[in-house]
Order: sequence, then C-alpha cells, then structure tokens
Amino acid sequence: MHDKKVLMFGGAVLMLVGFWMVSPGTASAQLVECDLVDANGNVNAPGGCIGRTLQDQVGPGQGDINTFASSIYLVKRDPARAIRRGRQLFQRKFSVDEGSGPRVNAASSGDITQARALGAGLADSCAACHGRPRGSAGFGGDVNTFPDSRDSPHLFGLGIAEMLADEMTTELRAIQQAALDDAANGSGGATLVDENFDNGNGSFTYGDDTFNNTNNPAYADGNIVFAGSDGVARVALGGIDNADILGMSGGWQTTFNAPSAASAVLSFRFELDQAANYEPDEFSQALASVDGTVYTLATLFGDGNGGGVQTTGMTNVSLNLSLTAGNHTLTLGGFNNKKTFADESTEVFFNNVLLVTSGSGPGPVTRDLITKGVNFGQITAHPNGTVDTSAVDGVNTNLRVLPFFAQGGTASMREFLIGAFNAEMGLQAVDPILCAVTDPGSPQAMVSTAGFSYDPALDTFERPPACDTAADPDGDGVANEIDAALVDFMEFYLLNYFKPGQYLVTPRAQQGLQLMDQIGCTTCHVQNLTIDSDRRVADVQTDFDPVNGIFNELFATASTRFQVVPDGDPYPQVLPNGDSFVVENIFTDFKRHDLGPDFDERDFDGTKLTEHITEPLWGVGSSAPYGHDGRSINLDAVIRRHGGEAANVTVAFANLSDNDQRKIIEYLETLVLFPPDDTASNLKAGVPGSGDPQDPDNHGSINLGALFQIPNAVIGGE
Ligand code: HEC
Ligand code: HEC
Repeated sequence: MHDKKVLMFGGAVLMLVGFWMVSPGTASAQLVECDLVDANGNVNAPGGCIGRTLQDQVGPGQGDINTFASSIYLVKRDPARAIRRGRQLFQRKFSVDEGSGPRVNAASSGDITQARALGAGLADSCAACHGRPRGSAGFGGDVNTFPDSRDSPHLFGLGIAEMLADEMTTELRAIQQAALDDAANGSGGATLVDENFDNGNGSFTYGDDTFNNTNNPAYADGNIVFAGSDGVARVALGGIDNADILGMSGGWQTTFNAPSAASAVLSFRFELDQAANYEPDEFSQALASVDGTVYTLATLFGDGNGGGVQTTGMTNVSLNLSLTAGNHTLTLGGFNNKKTFADESTEVFFNNVLLVTSGSGPGPVTRDLITKGVNFGQITAHPNGTVDTSAVDGVNTNLRVLPFFAQGGTASMREFLIGAFNAEMGLQAVDPILCAVTDPGSPQAMVSTAGFSYDPALDTFERPPACDTAADPDGDGVANEIDAALVDFMEFYLLNYFKPGQYLVTPRAQQGLQLMDQIGCTTCHVQNLTIDSDRRVADVQTDFDPVNGIFNELFATASTRFQVVPDGDPYPQVLPNGDSFVVENIFTDFKRHDLGPDFDERDFDGTKLTEHITEPLWGVGSSAPYGHDGRSINLDAVIRRHGGEAANVTVAFANLSDNDQRKIIEYLETLVLFPPDDTASNLKAGVPGSGDPQDPDNHGSINLGALFQIPNAVIGGE
C-alpha cells in the first residue's frame, strides 16, 4: 500500500523545520513568467506561470553554503526548492530581452562543420525539444546537428546515467593503475586459501563419494578432530560391518576465486593410516583434486590378516597449479578400493592448507576491463609505464565512459546543459566552475555544485562560451545571460530527475523479458546496474497502480535519500546519503557498438560515425520514433534495424514466433515515461472520481512543493 501522508517523506527534515508550505498552484508545462504575461497580476489558471522573474531566481547568485537564498545554499539546505527552480528553467520560455538567440549569429550563417549549433536551434525553451510527455524533461524535437538528424532523447533518470558512467570510469582507471603498478614492480602472490582447521571446518565442507565415482556413502565419513587446540580434517573409509564393499571415498571441499590467470602453489600436510587386517588386493589412498584433476598423494596396500597398522606419518606436500581466472574447487580426501571386514578401515587427515598465487617480476601485465559487469575489453600495461589499449572495446582509450550524445561525447550534465543553452537557445552561461576546470593557463580540479568531480589532469572538458569573452559574447546587448546560480539549479534538477516508470507487467510481458535474455538483447541492454554512492537527495519510483493512479494508472512514490546535518544555520543541511542503489530496468551498458550500415551516420564532411552508445531502454514504451536519428517508426522496426554486432541477436529475434516477438514488444511497452504534473503521487495523491478532473488536487501530481524546507513566507513563493 502506498502511504499518502506527505509528512512521512519529508519526515526528518519537515519535523525539524516544523512545517511545510503547500505551494500555490502547480507548476505546469512550458512555463511563462507571470509578470510578463499578466498585466493584472492574477494569471493563475489554467496552467499557472513562474512566480519569480529570472533575476529573482538568481537571487544572491551562486554564493556559498552560508549565503542565504544563494544557489549553493538552496541546493544544500532546501533541495526540493532548488530542483523546482531548475525545473522552471527547463520549462521556461526565454525572451529576446533575456538574451534568447541569435542562432550562432544574427544571420545564422557560417560553416556547420565548425558550428553544429547552426543546425540545432533556435528554440526558446529546453522543453520545446524535450517536452513530451507534457511538462516533463522528456523527448521530442529533432535537430540537424548531423545531416541524418538527431532525435532528442528523454532526460528521465539522467543523473543516474551520469553517476553510473562516472563510477565505471573510476573503476576502469583503477584496474589500469593496478596493472601499471604490477607491471613496474612485479606483483606479490595472493593467498586464495588458508585453513588450519583450528576453528573448525572454515570454508571447507565434507562430502561422501568425492573420488572415482564411488557410491557407498554409508562407508565414508568426515569430521574435524582436535588434538588440544590443533584442529585436523579427517576422512574415514571402510569399517562399519563385515559386508564386502567395493569403492569408498570422501573428501573436504572448498571453492575459491582466482581474480586473474596465475600460477599457484598448493601446500598442506596429510597423513594416511590403514588398519591392520586389509588383504594385498585391498588398497587405501590419500588424494587431492583441483577442478577434477586428481593428484595421488600416497597409496598403501594391505599386508594380510595380522599385519601391522600402516601409516605415511604426517607428510608435507606442495603442488604447482596453473589457474585460469575464475572459480575453482579444491578437494582433499581419500579412496579405498575394497574392504570385507569391520576391522578393515582407512583414515586420512589434512592440515595447514595454503594456496598462494606466484608473484611475478616486472613485466607486461594484461587485465580484463570489467566494471559493473560490463566488459570493455583488455589493457596490457608495460613496465615502462606505457599501456597497450588496442584491445580496449566500446570506450575511449583514456577509459572515460561518456554517457551523453548518441556517439558518447560528454561526461557531465553541467557541461551538456551549458552547451545546450548556447547551441539550442543562444543563451551564454557564465560558470566559474567549468571556466576554472578548462582554464587554458592553469586548469584546476573542481567539484560541481551537484557533486560531479572534474579533474583536468585526466580528462578534457568543454569550455563554456562566456569564460574569455566580455560579458556579452554574442553581441546581442544582453550580458550574463545565464548566471552560474541558474546553472546550479539546472544541474541539480537533472541530477535528481525521476527515472522512468513501469506500466502493468503482464505474464506475457514477463515472458518477453525472459526472451530478451535468452536471445541476447541483454548482452548490450544490461537490465540492472548498481550505483555505489548515490548523490541524489530523493528517488521516485513510479509503477502501475490502477487503484491510486488517476489520469494514467501510474502512482509515483517519492522517498528521500538524504540526511539532516544541523550546523547552527536556521535551516540545517540536507545532504545525500551516498548509499548504494540498484538501478532497475535501465537496459544499457554505456558502451559504443557498431550496429551495422543501417545505423551508420553521415557527417557533414562525408565521414561516417559507425558506433553509438547503447540507448537505455527505460522509457522506450512512450518515446517513438526510435534510433539516434528518429528514423524507426516503432519498436519492431528499430529492433529489426539492428545489424553489425547485434546481427546474430537480430536473426534470433526474427526466428522467434510472431507471438514471442509480440511478447518482447509488450515488455518494452511497460517501460514508460509520465507527465509529472498529471501523475498522482505520495506528494499529492489526488482523489479519484472527485470534482473537476482538471484540478491537480483531484488528479494528483508529483508536487515538489510538499518537500520545501524554507517556508515561502520567509523566502517568497516560486
Ligand atoms: C532544438 C532542440 C533542443 C533544445 C532546445 C534542447 N535540446 Fe537537449 N537535446 C536535443 C537533441 C537533438 C539531443 C540529442 C543530441 C545528440 O545525441 O546529438 C539532445 C540531448 C540532450 C542531452 C543529452 C541526453 C543524452 O542522453 O545524450 C541533455 C542533457 C540535454 N539535451 C539537455 C538539454 C537542456 C538542459 C536544454 C535547455 C538548456 C536542452 N537540452 C535544449 C535537442 C534539444
Ligand atoms: C550489440 C549490442 C546490442 C544488442 C545485442 C541489441 N541492441 Fe538494441 N541498441 C543497441 C544500440 C547501440 C542502440 C542505439 C542505436 C542508435 O544510436 O540509434 C540500440 C537501440 C535499441 C532500441 C531503440 C531505443 C531508442 O530509444 O531509440 C531498441 C528498442 C532496442 N535497441 C532494443 C533491442 C532489442 C529488443 C534487442 C534484442 C532483440 C536489442 N536491442 C539488441 C545495441 C544493441
């Protein structure tokens, strides 16, 4: 059941601050500024407008965490309000007076190969191109920045994409650094198994019939025996009764993982004891096996009734192994081929098991580049510090995973949004953060307001348009068109933007997902990826709910992911928890793939782009048409268009029955976008069937105002 009480969710913070303000009206799609369109000061319905002027939104600017009402202050202390401002900027229709335009220059002329913006804009609002479904940061427009056009993707879950790709980059680079260290210094051995049985069986478990396909479990047993505090693993075979038994075995087993292929040494101590009355055709063995390869440690033959007890005594063994990367099974035990009397029994003891990989001296080291389960090929590091990247796959050789742009071109939302303001809207942003990061003289490492770490020593980032030029770089008479505070709000809004929702998953759709796994769609469209440290302050989970869903049978549940840190200011800091978070149903690997000639893309200079980033499939149920170019009219068409690396998978899809193909499409259709103003949520649940269906109080919405921390009475309405 969904709990509809708003207080639950602002929970901790709302109680600290004491109360919350219900926002006046709801902010709707494609927003205009109230002051500009309402001479009488009473435009409120239908649709609403933005309460603040652009300058009011800037307020005291970027400031810092102690500058009341600055962007950094709001991001850290009233995150929902900062998100609301970002949302209004995204939906806002900018005016010429505010600096909108021109498209590159007044004549909109120039060399498009040098300025793709000539083929991009000119729009007066981000939502002009990313406006579907209504009022969202969704999909929509189509631009001419490549001759075959680029379709604007939806931005649902955008912050999640940024975080995943950035964490992947960090992990890939750590693998490379470890390889470089090992190549230069040689690597020490790693201990994979270390067991002295003094605290019991440890990771070992005992099993009957572990050797030679024996099947006499009643005549095999194992336990840990102690001599004082010294534990020893024991295997007992034979004995019990006077039955004639052929073939008895048992052993202690453990599984261990070798992170990479290596030679290794397995050492341990064992003793084999054979009771007195075995006959000469009866023998006992101590055995070890690794992944089924058996090593005979000792064999004792019977010497007839009345002979003595035979023993090897405690013996040291050391075996050289050659391990592949992955899991392995080690078994230590024994075998007895035959016994005919109760006094014919065998014991094997094991102690001090140690398995250590061999270290290596300096020399080339090859490592798999695997992060979050995605394989980006291999690197080979050399002792002189160079790296052979010829086997790197689907990512730049500097190992930076670039989630944005269809070809994988940009790492961070902050860079992208500054570029979009400039290229699509003719608005130049001033940003001290990215200007410092990209300073040609002395580039500096900086962290963005929403928490993205820029390190110019590792990556090249895009320089904002207004760093070097005068305050009015495009000469349109408007200076400082997009203040850094507005950049902060927009970045924070996109970081926290809702992930897509999921509509009713029927049993047929569920089978469709299984079929996608079976035929190989999910080798590229990886279903779930885990974020290690989540920088968002909230998560919104949106699911099919025919009871509480109103306009669209979806209900959104917002849950906060922040902690409250009081620091003396009247409004405490509200900071992200930084928890791990499993991102479900994203369906991407953030890798570049070649899908064959049907997806090749001509550039203005005649060259072709042959590789594109795997499009995440979340939201795909409501974002036709498809492909980076928007040339596939429906899901079936875009799937059949896959060739190149996906050729075999596409053949497998074509070979499915019509019914099974439909099931896959039906699953993809459950991955939906939604209009936030019109989707009931635990922040405004609505009342099904009541009053005017157009009234947000009746149909519900994802009402961020419910989470504002600083009362409107103190800071003013939005
Ligand atoms: C004129 C249409 C248009 C406008 C206006 C526009 N965009 Fe876009 N946007 C696009 C297109 C087309 C793409 C795909 C670009 C590509 O892959 O080459 C895109 C891509 C993006 C992406 C990258 C998404 C991804 O997954 O690769 C972000 C982020 C983005 N836009 C943000 C914005 C913001 C913020 C604004 C307003 C400042 C904005 N856009 C305005 C058309 C537009
Ligand atoms: C070799 C990797 C690979 C395999 C296998 C693969 N895809 Fe894709 N898929 C991609 C890439 C890359 C794109 C982006 C193409 C582009 O940029 O236009 C894509 C795009 C799509 C799109 C369009 C998304 C959009 O929003 O435009 C859909 C739908 C899709 N794939 C479904 C599938 C299904 C279903 C299967 C299995 C039958 C499959 N894919 C197998 C890599 C793959």
